[in-house]
Amino acid sequence: MAQATSSNREHLAGDALVAGAGLAGLFTALKLADAGCQVTVLAGIPRKGGATSTWAQGGIAAALGPDDSVDLHVADTLAAGDGLVDEAAARALAEDAPARIADLEALGVAFDRNADGSFSLGREGAHSRNRIAHVGGDSAGAAIMAALGKAASSHENIHILSGWHAADLFVERGVVSGLVTRGGVAPDAPTLIFRADATVLATGGVGALYAVTTNPTGSRGHGLGLAARAGALVSDVEFVQFHPTAIACAEDPAPLATEALRGEGATLLKADGSRLMEGVHRDLELAPRDIVAREIATEIARGRTVLLDCREAVGDRFAERFPSVYAACQRNGIDPVAGTIPVAPAAHYHMGGVVSDLAGAASMPGLYVCGEVARTGAHGANRLASNSLLESIVFGARIADAIAVNSTSTRPPKNAPSGGAAPTGPDPHAEQIKALRDSMSRNVGVARDASSLEETLSLIRGLEAQALPQASGYNNMLAAAHLIVAAAYRRQESRGGHSRLDYPQTDERLARPTPLTLTEALLTCAAPVTKTA
Ligand code: SIN
Repeated sequence: MAQATSSNREHLAGDALVAGAGLAGLFTALKLADAGCQVTVLAGIPRKGGATSTWAQGGIAAALGPDDSVDLHVADTLAAGDGLVDEAAARALAEDAPARIADLEALGVAFDRNADGSFSLGREGAHSRNRIAHVGGDSAGAAIMAALGKAASSHENIHILSGWHAADLFVERGVVSGLVTRGGVAPDAPTLIFRADATVLATGGVGALYAVTTNPTGSRGHGLGLAARAGALVSDVEFVQFHPTAIACAEDPAPLATEALRGEGATLLKADGSRLMEGVHRDLELAPRDIVAREIATEIARGRTVLLDCREAVGDRFAERFPSVYAACQRNGIDPVAGTIPVAPAAHYHMGGVVSDLAGAASMPGLYVCGEVARTGAHGANRLASNSLLESIVFGARIADAIAVNSTSTRPPKNAPSGGAAPTGPDPHAEQIKALRDSMSRNVGVARDASSLEETLSLIRGLEAQALPQASGYNNMLAAAHLIVAAAYRRQESRGGHSRLDYPQTDERLARPTPLTLTEALLTCAAPVTKTA
C-alpha cells in the first residue's frame, strides 16, 4: 500500500477514478458522467485480447419474456449458486436488469429481436425460462463494448487515459484517495498517483492465472491482489467457474463454444457416441455449469475425449447464428456443421472477489468494486449463466448513484499525463508466470485436494520470496493466486465450483461466505516453499 510522499508525482482525477475499461468500468463511468461527475478512466496498458467483456458470447440474463418474472430469475440464481448466494444481491440483479438493458439500448445496443419486435431470448444452463438477451447471435460482448466505447470516448465528463496501470491503492489515513499507477510493466517504469474522491476498481477477473482459460491475458487477478494487499476484505475466492465447453485446441486463451449452443439443443457425447450427461442430471446438458464441467473433466481424466454435437440442433445455420464460434472452429480445422467439436473445461469466471455491499462499496472507505473483481454475493458458489455482464451494469449504476451524491464536479486538469507504451520485449516474469499458470490448472482446477493445493501454495511462496517489491503487477498477481489457493485449502467440502476430492460431500455447516484477508491467506497451510530457479 502506497503512502503520500512529497516526491510522488500526482494527477487530480476528478470526482471518480475508474480502473478498467471493460463493461463494468465504462458503464460505471457513463452513469457517473451522466450524473454530472467528472471521471477519469484508466484503460491500462494495451494487452493482447483487451477486456474480457468484449469476448462474451452468451448475452445478458433478464426476466423479459411473458412467461418470466423477477422471482423466477432470483430462484434460478439461488439454485445455481449452491447455497451461497446472498438473496438481496440476487434480487438487486434481477430487479434492476430490465432497466439496465433499456440503458444499453439507449446507448445503441441492438439486441436481437423476433419478427413481432419482442426480444429473441435464448436459454442457457440452469435457467428455467428463455432469458438471455443476445446481440448478433453470439457477439453480445463485442457489440455492447463497441457502443459503450463510442459513448464514453465522446462524453465531455469522461477522460480516458491509456498507458497507466493500477499498481497500488493510494491510502491516506485509512481512506482510499486514488491509485498509484505505473507507466509500464518494467520494475523501473515511472510512477504516477491519480487522486480522486472515489476510486472504482473494475479490473476484471482471474481466469488467466490458469494455463487453460477462456479469458484474455490481462485477467490475472491484479485488482483482487491490489485491493487485498492494501487490506481490503475478499470473500469466496475459492469459487472459480470452469466453463464446460471451451474448444479443446492449442490456442491460448481457449476459444469458447457458448452455452447457448446447448440451449439450442446441442448435446455432449462421449467418444463412443453415448450421451455424457445421461443419468447425471435431469437437465442433461443444461444442468448447472459446475456439474457439467465436473462430468467433462472426469471423462477427460480417464483419457477420453468429450464432443459437442451441434449437427442436428444448429446444423447449417451455424455460421450465421454463432459466427464467433464458427470462426474459432475454422481456425482450428474443426467443421461444426458436418462434425463434432472437441471440448474441455477452462477457467472462465471468478465468483469470489473483493467484498462489496449492494452499492458496490468495498470494506475500505473511498473504494468501490465493480464486475468480476467484486464479490457482491449474487453468484454464490456457481454463477448462473449470463448473470455476469448483468452484474457489471446493475452494480455499475448503483456505484454511480452512491458516488454522485457527494460529487463536487471538479474537472481534472486538461494536461493529462501520457502513459507508457505497450510492453514490447518479453515479460520479465514470463517463466515464473508460466510455472504458476501450469500449476493452477494442474492443482487448483475443476477438482482439487489438500496435496495438490499444498504443491501450488509452495510454488507461490517460492515465487513471492524472490519477487522484487517494486514489481507491483506481478506481486498483485501472486497475491490473487495465493488468496484463491489458500481459500480452496481452507474450505473442506465440495460446493458449486469448488470440488475437493478429499472432501467430496457438501457440508451444510459451511453454507456461508468465507471472508479472508491476505494476512490470513499467507498464514494458511505451512507447506514447504518450492525453490525456483
Ligand atoms: C457462454 O456464452 O457460454 C458464456 C456466458 C457466461 O459466461 O455467462
